[in-house]
Amino acid sequence: MKHFLSILWKITGTLIILIGLGFFIARVINVAPSNKLSVQEQVVTIVEEGGCFVCHGGPDFYPNINVPVFGHMIEKKAEKGVRYANAFSVLMHLNNDEAVDESILIKMQKVISERSMPPLSYSIIHWKSAIIKDKQKILLHWLYDHLSTEHDWPVPTKERTFEPIIPVPDSLPANLSKVNLGRILFNDPRLSADSTVSCATCHKLDQGGADNMNFSLGAFAQPGRYSTTTIFNAAFQQFFFWDGRVSSLALQSALMLTDPVIMGNESFEEITDRLEADPDFTSLFTATYTEGFSAENITDALAEYHKVLITPDAPFDQFLKGDGEAISPDAKKGYDLFKKIGCASCHNGVAIGGNSLEYMGLSNKFFPSRDKVQLPDLGRYRVTGLQEDIYKFKVPGLRNVALTYPYFHNSSAPDLETAVKTMAFYQRDKTLTLKEIREVVSFLRTLTGTFEGKLLTGSIGE
Ligand code: HEC
Ligand code: HEC
Ligand code: HEC
Repeated sequence: MKHFLSILWKITGTLIILIGLGFFIARVINVAPSNKLSVQEQVVTIVEEGGCFVCHGGPDFYPNINVPVFGHMIEKKAEKGVRYANAFSVLMHLNNDEAVDESILIKMQKVISERSMPPLSYSIIHWKSAIIKDKQKILLHWLYDHLSTEHDWPVPTKERTFEPIIPVPDSLPANLSKVNLGRILFNDPRLSADSTVSCATCHKLDQGGADNMNFSLGAFAQPGRYSTTTIFNAAFQQFFFWDGRVSSLALQSALMLTDPVIMGNESFEEITDRLEADPDFTSLFTATYTEGFSAENITDALAEYHKVLITPDAPFDQFLKGDGEAISPDAKKGYDLFKKIGCASCHNGVAIGGNSLEYMGLSNKFFPSRDKVQLPDLGRYRVTGLQEDIYKFKVPGLRNVALTYPYFHNSSAPDLETAVKTMAFYQRDKTLTLKEIREVVSFLRTLTGTFEGKLLTGSIGE
């Protein structure tokens, strides 16, 4: 027993000395890179010293650290870290002098401004890794410059704060004759195999751009497999479909049209045959697309129409633009929580989502705790077949979210309160109080915007 205690003392003593020494040496040797280097070089140096790629670069970078206890801890952290933020693409972009994805920049902003990365278990044995104030300044400036020059983000008003959400612009440049054709096609049931459903059947503009059903009925009255997402502000997304299957609106429309359940067509010829039987519409269409109906032209017109399906001027956007009174004090608290808990690490940008693919159940397992895992639950795995993509989904945009219940790909959350509570627990390991849930919900309700000059409304849910 005595022997055991003395060993314990020795270990504790050594640890304390090591930690103390670590802090001391770190202060002396951990300095910001020379400003003679280019900004890019300074950034690369800081992230390399910070070990960011060790834990966020993927399996190829997993650490091989032979320090007892710490080595194992860091390995576990690396396995977890890469699920939270995969920085492999950052490394590639930085090395090739290309733009880094905005979603990862926003995530970085949070941890750099809080100086919460690298974790203590890493910095304690890597003395040059902690983000000291001088390094923080370089990184934040680089982030701001990068977001505004490469991604057109508005320059931050205050030093060190860059709002993770940007207002919807009043309009997008669009070809109006194509928009007009897109609008007609969108409302035309002849696009479906049995001429019963149009795009507008499931994407109702007076119901937030979706239809409030758990699973919509497609051609031949077949029930769908995924909850219908809104078409409003889809134009700002980088990924489409719950599993992020495609990255352009035209391709998105093409897959909707040939989806056996949704529009039920086996080929585009079926569609063009039906449309060509209408001489009036054919001549209207060929006035813009001289070569007539084709898969390419039909989807091009539909994609163009989406450029006017945007909803500017939400109360929250007015708030962002400087009108402090545009949203209630509760909504403001809700927005602060949204940032503090880290909801904005995934839901950001103009669409407040749509620009990244993330795990559902990042912090706590969501699926195995449910009754039965269905095929759509596998998420992006269905597209790539990669093990690491199981349960990964496109982060849905949150604009007009008050109108687009039920929530999640499987419509498993009937209302916003449930969705917020679920997200906080499964994505952030946070159990919110009722008051906090109400505040976040108040904030989410301020995201309802205007369409054709009028505030969007829906049925219940408000
Ligand atoms: C020892 C491994 C390790 C190192 C080194 C490390 N991280 Fe992390 N990182 C993690 C883990 C684990 C998480 C998950 C959250 C947590 O456990 O705190 C995470 C989370 C993150 C997130 C996601 C935050 C969010 O809100 O979802 C970002 C961004 C991030 N790290 C950036 C960095 C940067 C930048 C560096 C380098 C300065 C870095 N990390 C260094 C392990 C690491
Ligand atoms: C039967 C109902 C139904 C019809 C009809 C329908 N959709 Fe959809 N739409 C859905 C569902 C369900 C989703 C989500 C599907 C998924 O992610 O796998 C969706 C998603 C979308 C999205 C959003 C993509 C995203 O990721 O945010 C767009 C844009 C869209 N549809 C456009 C169209 C167009 C254009 C048409 C007509 C050609 C159409 N839809 C017809 C049900 C429908
Ligand atoms: C790790 C990334 C991530 C974080 C963090 C995150 N979300 Fe999500 N969010 C998602 C994904 C992915 C989905 C889609 C999940 C699904 O359908 O199964 C989603 C769905 C939602 C939805 C439903 C939207 C719809 O149209 O169905 C709401 C509301 C939401 N999140 C709010 C929040 C709030 C509030 C927080 C903070 C407490 C948060 N999210 C944190 C990734 C994230």
